[in-house]
Amino acid sequence: MKNEQWTSKIGFILASAGSAIGLGAIWKFPNVVATSGGGAFFLVFLIFTLGIGLPLLLAEFVIGRSTGKEAVSAYKDLAPKSRWHWIGYLGMATCSILLSFYSVVGGWIVLYFIKAMTGQLLHQGEDYGVLFQMTTSNPYTAVLSQAGFMLLTIVIVAKGVKGGIEKASRIMMPGLFIIFVILMIRSLTLPGMGAGLTYFLKPDFSQLTSEAVLYALGQSFFCLSVGGSCMVTYSSYLGKHDPLGKPALSIVGLNVMTSLMAGIAIFPALFALGMKPADGPGLLFITLPAMFEKLPYGTLFIAIFLALFLFATLTSAFSLLEIVVAAFAHGDPTRRRHMCWLFGIIIFLLGVPSALSFGMEQLTLMGKTVFEWADFAVTNVMLPLGVLFISVFVGYRYPKERLQTEWSSIAPAWRTGLHVYLFMLRIVLPIIVIIVFLNGMKWLPL
Ligand code: PHE
Repeated sequence: MKNEQWTSKIGFILASAGSAIGLGAIWKFPNVVATSGGGAFFLVFLIFTLGIGLPLLLAEFVIGRSTGKEAVSAYKDLAPKSRWHWIGYLGMATCSILLSFYSVVGGWIVLYFIKAMTGQLLHQGEDYGVLFQMTTSNPYTAVLSQAGFMLLTIVIVAKGVKGGIEKASRIMMPGLFIIFVILMIRSLTLPGMGAGLTYFLKPDFSQLTSEAVLYALGQSFFCLSVGGSCMVTYSSYLGKHDPLGKPALSIVGLNVMTSLMAGIAIFPALFALGMKPADGPGLLFITLPAMFEKLPYGTLFIAIFLALFLFATLTSAFSLLEIVVAAFAHGDPTRRRHMCWLFGIIIFLLGVPSALSFGMEQLTLMGKTVFEWADFAVTNVMLPLGVLFISVFVGYRYPKERLQTEWSSIAPAWRTGLHVYLFMLRIVLPIIVIIVFLNGMKWLPL
């Protein structure tokens, strides 16, 4: 059965940018910057994003577009009778665990959105830290909201690539940018915002520990949706001659821009409102309501913001579920629907312990809750591992002539580019990923 395709090039860019832009840039990035060295972290993150994330994004695109197959079959197609397709299975496992805790945060957004719509969110003098704590530590609301988020994801992914994912992206993504601009203006016009801006952007390399460097690496992969083979599946819905270079650059650009905008919207406001930066996963959920409270029509704006934020998170969740579903659906719409429900429910159940983590903070293993372990394992171990394998796969195993043809459509003017690209994939990327990983885990005596 012939696979569905994106209806237009912009449709693909929007959908894959939608996969990339999500909690990674908006929720995780400000949080990890706050705990891992401010501007210095951002600099390292930028280097990893451009130096490793971008080449890898292209690698995933090439695998998907050239085979037209989802993540597992694509590797099988390129390297038959080998175990390379296990990269696809690794991707499916990574994405399932990722979605299991992603949906917990997605659930919080759903809850906050409902609160905003019913006028229960913004109140003068409200302690938003307490509100966040109460919301997330209640086991019923935590699991119910997570279920609500998964339900939305399942229903839309079940409708298919064109019908569901592409259309909505066209409207919502530009909306998100507009609201971030408004937020940045508000944040930068609050008295006392300078300290926050300095904190966010001024590099202080003394804080850049080996762990922070690993977090920057993981963050750059998380943000670009690379390492889990999601982008292989998404680019398999492209026509054989659709461009790849420009979409990859746009995705990187949009993503870095969103991370920057989130940082500028949050840190200056945070300092201006007299809060401290290390507020953990609640950072965004605590700072933003306090900021919106100080905006005219704040209640309306926060509802719009949360709707767009929810949308950005959902479009990432779609790609996470899509990779698993596509691997089992074999292009059959009925099977596809069944697989959506089956895996959606499995992933929801997998995520329940993460959802309950916030009410049981004393229940930790080596200082981390289940939620934190899931996040750590995916971001700092599984995604880097996926990146390493994909890099080695395209560098050494991908059929050479085919890669030459692919490259001529990525950067036709840059003939020697393929050599540089291959050198990166074969040598530079693997070495950097291995060193940063081992060093970050403290397994290297550096
Ligand atoms: N990039 C997404 C985000 O930043 C998360 C994601 C990671 C999605 C890996 C797909 C694959 O929210």
